Amino acid sequence: MTAEMRRAWARTLTSEPDFLKEQASLGKCWTLLAVGEDLLNDGDWIRATLGGKSVFVQRFGDQLKGFENRCAHRFFPLRTADKGNGPIVCGFHHWRYDRDGLALGIPHSTEVYGKTPREIGARLPSIDIATCGSLVFGRFPSDDGESLEAFLGDGFPILATIADMPAKSYKISDDIAANWMLLMQITLDDYHLVAVHHRKKFSMNREMAYYRFGAYDRHSTQFVHTQDTPAIMAAQCLAGNCKPDDYRIFNIFPNVAVSLFRAKPYWYCFIQQFIPVSAGRSQQRGWFYRTKIEVEETAFEKFIEPVSEIIRPRIVRYFTERTGDEDHRACEQLQSVAAQADAWPILSSQEKRIEWFWQAYQRSLTTAPAPEVV
Ligand code: FES
Ligand SMILES: [Fe+2]
Repeated sequence: MTAEMRRAWARTLTSEPDFLKEQASLGKCWTLLAVGEDLLNDGDWIRATLGGKSVFVQRFGDQLKGFENRCAHRFFPLRTADKGNGPIVCGFHHWRYDRDGLALGIPHSTEVYGKTPREIGARLPSIDIATCGSLVFGRFPSDDGESLEAFLGDGFPILATIADMPAKSYKISDDIAANWMLLMQITLDDYHLVAVHHRKKFSMNREMAYYRFGAYDRHSTQFVHTQDTPAIMAAQCLAGNCKPDDYRIFNIFPNVAVSLFRAKPYWYCFIQQFIPVSAGRSQQRGWFYRTKIEVEETAFEKFIEPVSEIIRPRIVRYFTERTGDEDHRACEQLQSVAAQADAWPILSSQEKRIEWFWQAYQRSLTTAPAPEVV
């Protein structure tokens, strides 16, 4: 890695111009925008952030479409709430758009423009949309033609299985005064558990394995206490036979972490995303739920399921929020002196995924091939 790349490490955590540049580049990367439950019915829409810009995704029949959230007329935001249902009609002068983003309803058009809406031909910039499981991803159009399937690689069948959300999921959110990359990096760090989460013991390297996956190895995962690999898990998922044996976390570049854990006897999943707001501020949003992975239940577990499934999500929420809070407050401390980070960190074997993340980040900011790592 070049000296300039190492210096950039620190600068990107605090510099607003660098943040804006970075976000513009990352907008070409497939990014989580919504989950299926937000877009179930015809006309449902959700506002999201992509590449530092406000965008929205809307269901039209069996199709999902995404557009930049600004009117072609005078750039008023078309969606002024987080979610809703209804046609695309601008609140400023009532221009109305069709499912292709074309302004086909322009009030008083021939009087004030001397033209029909078709002759004016105003259109919203569209974004590419693709889904995996219940996850709706988007990106600004790019020449590389990379599909979501290629982007995720082995992660595609895995997410199609573990992120196939049931009707009931539970939401989690937090506002954090820290750069989004610090939040991603703490999910890639298995060395902080004793100091930050008050675990009794450090993990041993032999207990876990790290893997990279997807196009250009942008994503990474930690598998605990198993011989399985992402390729094995992907094959199991494709065969409809997903059989995890312990905790696993999948970090999807740029800003999503999906953890799979046991809430006995079931497998639960927690999907979280760190949405960049500014260089020093981020928003966490997350969903946890019981996955559809089949498990063997004892007769007693089956018997108490109606009651235990009321209590279990509360327990999961307690631990998930507590762990998140500890992580987020630690990241706020990191952010408070981030401007003083003037060297490459001294990464341990249990933080090596942070370097992998940084390589993926650098690659996204340049059109050049992935930087050579020394
Ligand atoms: S800005 Fe949208 S109709 Fe005028
Ligand atoms: Fe943590």
